[in-house]
Amino acid sequence: MTDEPLVLGIETSCDETGVGIVRGHTLLADTVASSVEEHARFGGVVPEVASRAHLEAMVPTIERAAQTAGIALSDIDAVAVTSGPGLAGALLVGVASAKALALGLGKPIYGVNHLAAHVAVDQLEHGPLPEPCLAMLVSGGHSSLLEVTDVTVGVEPMGSTIDDAAGEAFDKVARLLGLPFPGGPHIDRAARSGNSVAIDFPRGLTSRRDLERHRFDFSFSGLKTAVARWVETQQRAGVTIDVHDVAASFQEAVCDVLTRKAIDAATSRGIEDILIGGGVAANSRLRAMAEERATAKGIRVRVPRPGLCTDNGAMVAALGAELVQRGRTPSLLDLPADSSQPITTVVA
Ligand code: KG4
Ligand code: ZN
Repeated sequence: MTDEPLVLGIETSCDETGVGIVRGHTLLADTVASSVEEHARFGGVVPEVASRAHLEAMVPTIERAAQTAGIALSDIDAVAVTSGPGLAGALLVGVASAKALALGLGKPIYGVNHLAAHVAVDQLEHGPLPEPCLAMLVSGGHSSLLEVTDVTVGVEPMGSTIDDAAGEAFDKVARLLGLPFPGGPHIDRAARSGNSVAIDFPRGLTSRRDLERHRFDFSFSGLKTAVARWVETQQRAGVTIDVHDVAASFQEAVCDVLTRKAIDAATSRGIEDILIGGGVAANSRLRAMAEERATAKGIRVRVPRPGLCTDNGAMVAALGAELVQRGRTPSLLDLPADSSQPITTVVA
């Protein structure tokens, strides 16, 4: 017997309908239904399409997760759900479903912050989070550096993107190169046989002047424009572009800035552990560069496996279990979905 809480987590902030079930730090089920293919021809996520897909996928995904975990829903101790930030209509489907489930089972509900959940998920793989740690969350919707002292209480933002998110830059550059959506994994793959120093693309917000105001912030829109210009110039000159070299040089520029700023942020606060999460954390070059540069500074790096980095229900369940274990107060049943829930609010 165990007194670790059994928690079901629901994630619908973007295009993944995720349902995860954990017991404490043990992952029992992580079921994801994605509508990504329905968005591919638009080159980005269409909110209405995502909301409808969540509605259709919710009940079967919950049933599949319970089956995989080998539990009855009535065994659950609490329900956790992403209440924000994210797409408003998509979040509403998850929050309404979680309320129905919690009310039906007579169990508490925790409306949790999506970013804090990206941090908490690492516990399922590597055990208790080092506290404090510096979290770098990089995905299609966010690029933030956060100081985490207690993931159940509050997370302090140190910096974020001032324009495009890191994943968005990968997706837009992939589109320019004629690679499918979402572009990150395709760029990652193309870059493996490319030359990362073939083209010297700009590193946003790294000049001395920019660092004064934006030491821990990111900017990727200038980089995206630089890639577009470079490709255009080559094409106008009738030169066939080497997609592998462009992908590798672009990826190098993104990873260089991300790792440099993350390590600077950690060092500035005397933090010895960096945790990377979000879809872009699946990037092979980012993982290798972070590991190499951090090790040189005596900093440890934790990155969950790729399936836990992208949006999923397990991350929400993981945070939920931590909230239960640390005795945090649940949300009220009139819990709203908040598309711009601040990172400082872990439980809505
Ligand atoms: O966390 P996630 O699944 O959803 C959001 O919250 O956005 O992240 C998806 C993003 C996409 O932009 C995708 O291109 C990017 O993560 N991504 C990658 C890789 N795998 C996914 N970017 C770079 N390299 C990868 N291997
Ligand atoms: Zn995410």
